[in-house]
Parts: sequence; C-alpha cells; structure tokens
Amino acid sequence: MKIVVLAGGLSPERNVSLSTGTMVTEALRGQGHRAALVDLYFGLEDDAGALEELFDADVSAAAKRISRQAPDLEQVKAARRDKSPSLFGPNVLELCRLADVVFLALHGACGEDGRVQAAFDLLGIPYTGAGYLGSAIAMDKDLTKRLVADVVNTPGWKVVDVRAEDIDGLVASARLPLVVKPVASGSSIGVSIVHTPEELRRALTDALALGGRTVLEEYVKGRELQVGILEDEALPAIEIIPKQGFYDYENKYQPGAAEEVCPADISPETEAKLRSAAVRVYETLGLSVYSRADFILDGAGEIWFLEINTLPGMTPTSLLPQEAAAVGIGYSALCERIVHASLK
Ligand code: DAL
Ligand code: MG
Repeated sequence: MKIVVLAGGLSPERNVSLSTGTMVTEALRGQGHRAALVDLYFGLEDDAGALEELFDADVSAAAKRISRQAPDLEQVKAARRDKSPSLFGPNVLELCRLADVVFLALHGACGEDGRVQAAFDLLGIPYTGAGYLGSAIAMDKDLTKRLVADVVNTPGWKVVDVRAEDIDGLVASARLPLVVKPVASGSSIGVSIVHTPEELRRALTDALALGGRTVLEEYVKGRELQVGILEDEALPAIEIIPKQGFYDYENKYQPGAAEEVCPADISPETEAKLRSAAVRVYETLGLSVYSRADFILDGAGEIWFLEINTLPGMTPTSLLPQEAAAVGIGYSALCERIVHASLK
C-alpha cells in the first residue's frame, strides 16, 4: 500500500509526533508498504510532480529535514492568523490523495482533535484511527468527563476560563489538592498537581498561555494505570511508576524516567474493571480502531477514569506498543492492524 504518515504540525506535542511518525514509517516500510513521512504544517517544498517518489525516499533523511524545520510555534501561529488559515503545508493534500491511506501520527490539537479527520472526510481521504466527532470530544477533557460520568467513576471537576475568571477568587475558594490541566492538550503539557494556594495561583497564571480553558480536578492519590484498546478490545493494563513525581512530559519521554509494568501487578478483578471501564468510555464516545484510557487506582481499590487518547503515542517509550507486545503483537504488526482496521 502507499501510506502517507502525517506527523508534526503546530501542536505543542510536535516532537512527540515526529518520534511516533518516524517509527511508524519505518515499521510500515518493514512490512513492505511504500510509506512517506510528511510534516502536516511544513509539507513539502518539492513540486507536485516529485510527490510519488517520496513514498520510496529515505525515512531518516525526511525525519532530519522535518526536525530542522522546528518552528517557533507562537510566531508561526501569529503569521497564520494574518494570512491563510490553512494548517496544511504545501502539497500535503496532493500527496495524501496519492495514498491508499493516511496514517495519522499527529498528537495534540490540530491532528488529534478531529479537525484533520473532518477535512479528510470531506475530501474522501481514508485515514487511521477514530472519526472526527469522537476525536473532538476525547480531546476536550470537560466534554469527555460529562459524557462518561454515568458509565465510569471520574474525579469531581469544574472547568474555568482563566481569561475571564477572578484568579484570587478561585484560589480563595478552592479545596486543595487539585489537578490543574488545560481542557485540550496532551502528553501532560501544562498539567500540575497543586497542594498550596501559591501553587494553584501559579498553575492558573500559567494556564493563560495554554488557551485559558482549564479543568480543576479533585486529586485522587493512587497508582497510575492505563489501558489500550485495539479494534474494540482492551489490551492488558500497564502500570507506570515514575521515579519522581507523576507521569508528566519528562517522565513520559525520557527513557528510564519511569518504570512501566505490563501486565500490571493488580488483581484479576481490578484488571477486569479497568478493561471494561476503558471499553465503556471508548464506546460512549463512539471511538474506533485504537485508543488508550488513563486511570488512577486508589488505596481502596476504586478505579478513577481520567481521560482517553485517540491517537496514543507510538514512540520508543510509549505505552500502547508495550501493551500490544504483552499479547504478542509486535510494533510492526500493531501498525499493520491499525491500518487494516481503519480501512474496514
Ligand atoms: N498524547 C500522547 C502522545 C499520548 O497520549 O500518548
Ligand atoms: Mg492525553
């Protein structure tokens, strides 16, 4: 098959996405596909006639060229607001039309949030993973929690827009500790656990830079567990034990910063509860192909759903590939399954 692997873009998770994209492209090539790694935002400067050749071009050269284009995100976004609103780089759509399927290796806003999926639906371009609506809802932590609160336990929360709120009032009335997170972001960017009013004030002020809409969620102390779903079925749960703090950006992507145990050392009952909760959330949001749901297991054995990721990381330190490997599905076979399930 001819497959465009779309990565990068303007998300704060750009680098994570490039890491996913490089590994996926190499894996698909290893499976005998012709795969091209392409940056969503920068696209290709080559003229359209040369596009076909990209399916055979060297992956590491493409990855290097893309990483040299690391943008100043704020500058680029400001420029785009003045000019064209398109987030597709030159020739990206032309190249996608030449492919049998586009593998979405994008993470974070504009890629994981349903907009690219909706554009591809309108253009008739097949892509991997969930459709636009489930993707959009899953990207919004407030909407997700509202929709799934009847089918799973989720910590109490409220959503505030720090651009409009009186931060002093919020700090004075808050019951701590809390987890502060941007409504729509990934890889724990901007997430903090706050124990004191000062920490809360700092987190809310920082949230201004990340769009403003912020979830304040009750902090549940416990073990961090995640459950991947592949083709509507849950994979074994994985436990993450960060050496320090919680599973934040650094602990996610620095090799060795967290210990990952898969299958997790939990009772069969807890494993079954986690798996069924993950599938309930996935079904409630109308997701498809694959996902990864994140939970806390508290000291009383209760499980608490935090969020679901519709384009989970596929980097060297990512969790879904480890969960798939625990049931004998290697990385390349996982990519292959994702492609085939998406084309059904
Ligand atoms: N947002 C990152 C890539 C994940 O969920 O794995
Ligand atoms: Mg996430």
